[in-house]
Amino acid sequence: MRSITQSRKLSGVRYDVRGPILQEAERLEREGHAILKLNIGNPAPFGFEAPPEIVEALRLALPAAQGYSDSRGILPAREAVSRFYADEGVPGIHPDDVIIGNGVSEMISLVLQALVDDGDEILVPSPDYPLWTAQVTLSGGRAVHYPCDESNGWMPDLEAIEALVTPRTKGIVLINPNNPTGAVSSAELVRGFASLAERHGLVLMSDEIYEKILYDGAAHEHAARHVADTLCLTFSGLSKAQRVAGYRAGWVAISGNRERATDFLEGLTLLANMRMCANVPAQHAIPVALAPESRGSGIGELCAPGGRLREQRDVAHALLTSIPGVTCELPGGAMYLFPRLDPEQFPIIDDQAFVIDLLRATHVLVTNGRGFNLATPDHLRFVTLPSVPVLTEAIGRIAEYLDTVRVR
Ligand SMILES: Cc1ncc(COP(=O)(O)O)c(C=O)c1O
Repeated sequence: MRSITQSRKLSGVRYDVRGPILQEAERLEREGHAILKLNIGNPAPFGFEAPPEIVEALRLALPAAQGYSDSRGILPAREAVSRFYADEGVPGIHPDDVIIGNGVSEMISLVLQALVDDGDEILVPSPDYPLWTAQVTLSGGRAVHYPCDESNGWMPDLEAIEALVTPRTKGIVLINPNNPTGAVSSAELVRGFASLAERHGLVLMSDEIYEKILYDGAAHEHAARHVADTLCLTFSGLSKAQRVAGYRAGWVAISGNRERATDFLEGLTLLANMRMCANVPAQHAIPVALAPESRGSGIGELCAPGGRLREQRDVAHALLTSIPGVTCELPGGAMYLFPRLDPEQFPIIDDQAFVIDLLRATHVLVTNGRGFNLATPDHLRFVTLPSVPVLTEAIGRIAEYLDTVRVR
């Protein structure tokens, strides 16, 4: 019989955060080994539980949430998102400009399927959260990576980005704060992205899922504040700051020049209709999570001095950077560290194989930098969600391992 093959659409589509490295970790677990997992930004399993009122909102909604909703989402959720942006200094996002999805992930997929034709180009940061590159590829487009400069706090150079624009370029992605680097874009840089998008008529797609996870007084700037002449799509949701990644509650908010985009927006509505609606019970958590009184959801305290997220970031950063040959930019946001292993001391050729060897030797699971579309095989991504004792144990084992493979 003919073998059953995957579609050709999947060739070149990669998502290494849950790829072969994780499979090897699962194999080791089946053999009875305990694995320290520093690979996925999933707050709840690390004891970062959601504020109880968010959980309660979903529970109370269950009886009334049995039917499909409007495909854009229930009105109270879309109103709450609209009010949230107005209060954040982004006026003019009407509830009808909001589409609720099963997490930001679903909205990234829908938007790119609706926008991208075969051969279209989308400018994506390198490194990126790899779903962006994967979904551009799956949509038939080409992810053109603009480099973020580690020696400049992982900030990209706008002139270099502009040089990558071609007649096929249709959109540009900003991930702010970034996963995996944790870099927070300055207001000036965000304005620069907006004016570049406007000059070239590009759709500006701003992934702001980590907008409230900020350290050391870092300030987050909404791209939508600066876009008038072109279309801006802002992505966010409850998975990270509100710690309910499993509820699958996210959204895209549409702003800027919608008249220029009526055809695309019809396509996006068609795709939203085709998948009926997002998970309805979770949508009921959105108005509660975004109500002005619970807006912080305790995330500010977790990120402030003495807060768990901040302390774990600091401890992990100090431990990693005390390893000879390891350097790491201190992230201003998000929940990751993206250290560099000096290629002179660690001449890594295949970083996925390196991470699998490291996993087998230490039983610590991290992700390789190339999994985030970095050009060079010299970075690892750590999640800073585990407790200080777990981070200390994990990084201690990694330090010992690096001692054994370092070229002297
Ligand atoms: C930058 C970024 N965008 C989007 C997502 C997906 O979020 P969601 O849980 O809302 O699908 C993640 C998850 O890690 C992320 O890091």
